[in-house]
Amino acid sequence: MDYRKFIEERIAEIRETVGDGVAINALSGGVDSAVVTAIGHRALGTQLKTFFVDNALMRAGEPEFVEKVFAEMNIPIEVVDAGKEFLAALRGLTDPEEKRQAITNTFYCDVFGRLVRETGAKYLLHGTILTDIEETTAGIKRQHNILSQLGIDPEKEYGYQVLEPLKTLRKDGVRKVAALLDLPDQLTSRIPFPGPALAARIVGEVTEDELTLVRQATAIVEDELADSGAFQYLAVLLQDRATGIRDQRREFGRIVAVRCIDSLDARTATPARLEWEVLERICRRITAIPGVNRCLYDLTPKPPATVEYI
Ligand code: XMP
Repeated sequence: MDYRKFIEERIAEIRETVGDGVAINALSGGVDSAVVTAIGHRALGTQLKTFFVDNALMRAGEPEFVEKVFAEMNIPIEVVDAGKEFLAALRGLTDPEEKRQAITNTFYCDVFGRLVRETGAKYLLHGTILTDIEETTAGIKRQHNILSQLGIDPEKEYGYQVLEPLKTLRKDGVRKVAALLDLPDQLTSRIPFPGPALAARIVGEVTEDELTLVRQATAIVEDELADSGAFQYLAVLLQDRATGIRDQRREFGRIVAVRCIDSLDARTATPARLEWEVLERICRRITAIPGVNRCLYDLTPKPPATVEYI
């Protein structure tokens, strides 16, 4: 495949379709939406409005990271602070699917619907890739092609059309295109991170306190395992509690599970055989978080487990 030609063709296609209209797209911090942003920006310049929706479920420093990386590429992005909306939508929900649905609805119906109305955009550039389409068709994941899964016809509902310039590529192809577009390594080599963000790593209700805990644990795991070469690593805040001792006093505290997997495409995965010293260091740092007194390493492959806990 000639990826240079691929980029030129997509740019021409987007220009022709959008004409002198306005298009919008949303960044997630991942490689697919970054590539769409870069291609869209080359095609449309200021006719493309790129948004980063801060949903309050991000990892530590994420909005700042995304802002900085795109500023360095001279691509203007607008950060939309929608944290309160997402937290309100998640309040009281404990069922995994209900939590995912609440996040999806808030993003596509509320926040995105508003952005489309405000910008007058007629086109939405979406980072769907071939694997997403295949997995959706096979019923493996429910998070992709979200609009149609929600029963939303974007053209009818919001008056915009969805363009999917990457829908013939797989992840390796997206990474090749990313390299040709000069996207920085720190963006393209990131480990996978789920759309529902840290809400996928809290078993039970998502509150600001729980987010603070899992955000701290996530930063520790990502720091310790950055050079592990593993496919993905994460921290999960469990719902259970356990007795422990802190400052000579009994504490009925929280439990964090750490997961680090080897995988090719996340369809199957095996636990990484980490050094005992690394695991001990992670445990020490995680149990130093106030209120957390247990740290577990998850040895379960996928299947039967999934990668995320919700
Ligand atoms: P599971 O938990 O299904 O995860 O074994 C497989 C891979 O997909 C990621 N994942 C998601 N990615 N939106 C995403 O963009 C989601 O809703 C979502 N859920 C899981 C997960 O991190 C793993 O890499």
